[in-house]
Amino acid sequence: MDPFRPPADAWSRRDFMRNSMGSFALLCTIGGTETLGGKKIVTSASRRAKAASPFAPFQRDLPLMPVLSPVRSERGVDVYDVDIREGLADILPGFQTPIYGYEGIYPGPTIRARKGRAAIVRQSNRLSFDTNVHLHGGYVPAAHDGHPMDVIKPGAKFDYSYPNDQDAAFLWYHDHAHGRTAKTLYYGLLGAYVLHDEREQELDLPRDEYDVPLILADHAFNRDGSFRYAENVDLGFRGDTILVNGAVAPRMRVERRIYRLRFLNASNARSYDLRLGNGRAMVQIASDGGLLERAITRTSVPLHPAERIELLVDFRQFRPGSEIVLHNDAGEPSTKAVMRFDVVRGGGVEEARIPRGRMRTLERLPEPNASRRWDLTLATASGVQWQIAGRGFDPTRIDVRPRLGSTELWQWHNPSNRVHPMHLHGMLFRIVERSTGVVHPGERGWKDTIGVQPGETVTVQPWFTPYRGKYVFHCHALEHGDKAMMLQLEVVA
Ligand code: C2O
Ligand code: CU
Repeated sequence: MDPFRPPADAWSRRDFMRNSMGSFALLCTIGGTETLGGKKIVTSASRRAKAASPFAPFQRDLPLMPVLSPVRSERGVDVYDVDIREGLADILPGFQTPIYGYEGIYPGPTIRARKGRAAIVRQSNRLSFDTNVHLHGGYVPAAHDGHPMDVIKPGAKFDYSYPNDQDAAFLWYHDHAHGRTAKTLYYGLLGAYVLHDEREQELDLPRDEYDVPLILADHAFNRDGSFRYAENVDLGFRGDTILVNGAVAPRMRVERRIYRLRFLNASNARSYDLRLGNGRAMVQIASDGGLLERAITRTSVPLHPAERIELLVDFRQFRPGSEIVLHNDAGEPSTKAVMRFDVVRGGGVEEARIPRGRMRTLERLPEPNASRRWDLTLATASGVQWQIAGRGFDPTRIDVRPRLGSTELWQWHNPSNRVHPMHLHGMLFRIVERSTGVVHPGERGWKDTIGVQPGETVTVQPWFTPYRGKYVFHCHALEHGDKAMMLQLEVVA
């Protein structure tokens, strides 16, 4: 018997049986305005949607995750204490949604760290099943990386030690116990980890309340307001409702200033294509692994599961009272509105600026000493399983042993008809080539996850540094990674 049962499943079962129509969200948000022969018609579903406000966009102010305070700060290290437990989240007005959460909240508290100051995060597992914590995008020694087989038993604790010895970047932390991350992340086990450094400070980028993590995830709901999850190993989970920081397509009041918006796609398997209303410019300054060499202007930004992108938006270009919607061009009707920025009066003196020159110089990589091709395929012989190079995850097998400090060329070759956001633990890579065209300048910085499109081959150059040891690489469409699109590498001396 599977000891793992998300509370939402258990609590909503009766309700779910009674209503085989399924998700409340599905009933209320799909439909909307449809086009018939070029003419807009309002369906009854959309009239219901207006009445059923819990799913209507822009009803709630953007929630901000609390910043975790250290329980102790010693010389060079901040110590944090986190309980991994069940909780109730206020997601839909009038409902409480059972979740699993770091400190019992969804999304978990934000950890703000500084390069050169280590962090120790003591994670206590107060759940009834094994869990662990992976710092996604972090340079972390293998024993602290949250390898899928290194778990914390119920009632036990583990001190994760993070050196924070890498450039400023928007990282995140999440559960990684093998085989059920699709459920544990869906039910809330994730949080933001913002790493700052001095170089970034010198750039006069927006700070404090003008530096905002935005965690995107799609969900569906049962009638009682609990999360609804339905497994689909091939496609991955798709919800009909977009949450940002745990609220349905919220509105954010912004002053007429520059904001640094840090987007994380924490969805199980959904990709986004973000665009500001009126196609206004956004300035990309960073990708997964930190700052780009130069800021670039974009009007639309793709974001695959687990990817991060940092954008500066100058709201001084808008009049007070403007309402600017952030759209998802890749979505179905109910998932097109991500959030809205409501420009208010005031703002005071702007101290931040948009960097015009070089923000950083990317390290030169050593010449690659091997080239490997990884085919990304679906196997259906014994149940549906995703594979890399014809293999599924086997913790007893090491699939590749690169040398510490070396680089290789890895070709992600995707003959399947799904997007695979491929992620490498504990180190970073650069994108060398895309078979479908040029590599966008926004993808030329450090990355740890890359969306590989159907029919595409993407060549990346991982740098096997800074630690020796056993790490995994896998697809971050969570249903794919769980079953069992994941291999192991061991960095050797
Ligand atoms: Cu966020 Cu193994 O990944
Ligand atoms: Cu995949």
